[in-house]
Amino acid sequence: MPRVVSGMRPTGKLHLGHLEGALKNWNRLQHEYDCFFFVADWHALTTDYADPSQIRPNTLLMVGDWLAAGLDPNRATLFVQSLVPEHAELHLLLSCVTPLGWLERVPTYKEQRENIRDKDLGNYAFLGYPVLQAADILIYQAHFVPVGEDQVPHIELTREIARRFNKLYGEIFPEPQALLTQAPRLPGTDGRKMSKSYGNDIRLTDPPDVMWEKLRTMVTDPARVRRTDPGNPEVCPVYALHRVFSPPEHQQQVNVECRRAGIGCVECKRLLYENLRERLAPIADKSAYYESRPEQVRELLIEGSRRARQRAAQTMDCVRAAMRIAV
Ligand code: TRP
Ligand code: SF4
Repeated sequence: MPRVVSGMRPTGKLHLGHLEGALKNWNRLQHEYDCFFFVADWHALTTDYADPSQIRPNTLLMVGDWLAAGLDPNRATLFVQSLVPEHAELHLLLSCVTPLGWLERVPTYKEQRENIRDKDLGNYAFLGYPVLQAADILIYQAHFVPVGEDQVPHIELTREIARRFNKLYGEIFPEPQALLTQAPRLPGTDGRKMSKSYGNDIRLTDPPDVMWEKLRTMVTDPARVRRTDPGNPEVCPVYALHRVFSPPEHQQQVNVECRRAGIGCVECKRLLYENLRERLAPIADKSAYYESRPEQVRELLIEGSRRARQRAAQTMDCVRAAMRIAV
């Protein structure tokens, strides 16, 4: 069975963008492939090394949401990167064959160094971030990597590193392919891409009153100032959420009535709210269940990591032999 690998940085409780952009896809893939899904806690450390205090609690909360959204630890291998130290060993070996120029050219590197002002990203590990990611993928000799568009340059680099390695030492690594998530990018409450770091996210687990307050104050078509002004759903972030979370008849209704000022924004948002609640209530219940049982989540991750480690160790045996560093 072809292998699939993907990772998420431990950001704590997940939001609608994670659900549509990643979890829905992972859920489907776990029935079709041998899947390895992991918490990229070392990747978090490359940027949050000055204050690592949130990484552990965020790991447990995030995996609780994975389970709540339907990931099944008996189907997919769910694990924590730092519990599989073979990733670090392969990272070191791959760093030997990776030219600095390849890393300096990665678009996320320049962007983040320019945009993230509150952290010092002049550290060695941050430049090496994509090499660690390549190790995460190649160590399972993965065929597919489900990711969002922003990660494509990292997968490209992973393929280049695999080719270079294979040419030098022999064909060990298949060249992994990105599986692009089809879902549209979800806007957050301010209309920008939904992201925890922008503070514009709607969590899977927001209590009803919190969720309604976020929707009530969410930006709409900026040209629709008064209730009597007709609006344009095409430019409205609320409508972008209707497109994903409301049934076709509600989408149709909003699409028609908004344009002739037949529905007010509050009413429109209320409709979205009801549809969101219906979809999220069962997930929120399960998430609360796991939040109150962190030990259970921890144990399942330890067991998943043990399984991942067995598979990783197999690859490392081949790698050491190919590089002639086994004695
Ligand atoms: N860099 C990814 C992100 O920020 C997370 C990640 C780390 C990852 N290792 C990976 C994704 C391996 C896919 C495969 O989203
Ligand atoms: Fe947006 Fe709905 Fe208001 Fe139209 S009615 S502008 S779709 S919130």
